[in-house]
Amino acid sequence: MLRKKSTKRRRPTRKIDKSKLAEYDYHLPVMLEETIEFLDIKQKGIYVDGTLGGGGHTHEILQRLVAGGQVHAFDKDKAAIDHCHLRFSDELAKGDQSRLIIRHMSYEKACSIEEVRGKVQGILLDLGVSSRQLDDLGRGFSHRGNADLDMRFSGQGRSAEDIVHAASEDELVRIFYSYGEDPFAKAIARRICEKRRAIPLKTTFDLRTVIEESVPQGQIIKSMSRIFQALRIAVNDELRVLEETLQLSPELLAPGGRLVILSYHSLEDRIVKNVFKELSGKSLSNDSKNLSSGVPKLKILTNKPILPSYEETVGNPRARSAKLRVAERV
Ligand SMILES: C[S@@+](CC[C@H](N)C(=O)[O-])C[C@H]1O[C@@H](n2cnc3c(N)ncnc32)[C@H](O)[C@@H]1O
Repeated sequence: MLRKKSTKRRRPTRKIDKSKLAEYDYHLPVMLEETIEFLDIKQKGIYVDGTLGGGGHTHEILQRLVAGGQVHAFDKDKAAIDHCHLRFSDELAKGDQSRLIIRHMSYEKACSIEEVRGKVQGILLDLGVSSRQLDDLGRGFSHRGNADLDMRFSGQGRSAEDIVHAASEDELVRIFYSYGEDPFAKAIARRICEKRRAIPLKTTFDLRTVIEESVPQGQIIKSMSRIFQALRIAVNDELRVLEETLQLSPELLAPGGRLVILSYHSLEDRIVKNVFKELSGKSLSNDSKNLSSGVPKLKILTNKPILPSYEETVGNPRARSAKLRVAERV
């Protein structure tokens, strides 16, 4: 049975099981019950967890699978992969019989894995960063600690430092406006360009100082979060990867297979909403491109996003901005 669709924050339904907190030391999974319910796990189904992180969601999926069922779990982050190799070592030790296949690569590659194309019963994307990535101040994702301005999930490609130095002022404004929706984007971009002519901006605290110098006192903390988020999204090309993967997802899913997406800011949620609409034939804009046959590929199961319960947001502040949308392969 599907949960009643509602955008209302649901009142307490579940207490966080404190005995499980050690298990979730790496990352406390968000909307775990809801995502599992919507994935509607078939015991011998094939599932894709595109964002393995600490493995919280994957663990719950595995619990519901018997031999023959599979989870293909992706993460770009070596630390997450190492953590999950340890966490799931018993399962992985089964070799060919393992129900878990861990893939150290971007989830956008899932569509090119021939053995799962058209057979997947459920895809889960739990977007953004894990708590561990934020708490590991050396990764440069957080403005709370001083570290190299890195922010790469994979440790490869352009870092935040590279972008801060190579992007034009207009490009920086675009990144800060579009990915951070920061009202002080212009002032911050201008200050970066002035400063970088004199000294290299290499660390998170260098960027913090620029923001402190560009933004009114009372706005500094909010602006820092928005600018750090914007750079992270740009560094990892997160929105392009999300949109392209959603567009290709019908090729992976078996009929009736579910696409379950947890997003954490409005830009991600807008992409999920719009691609769902487009692939279900509800949007006029791009119908001709993706519905060339005129046949919808997805059916939307959540007309409005599902939000976490009030209690979950109290126990896990990271859940506050979560939105869950679900669609089903027609
Ligand atoms: C919010 S965490 C997932 C947490 C996980 N659901 C759990 O319960 O522990 C997001 C994870 O997705 C990973 N990630 C982000 N973009 C990715 C991509 N394009 N491909 C693979 N992994 C990605 C990040 O490295 C991070 O570990």
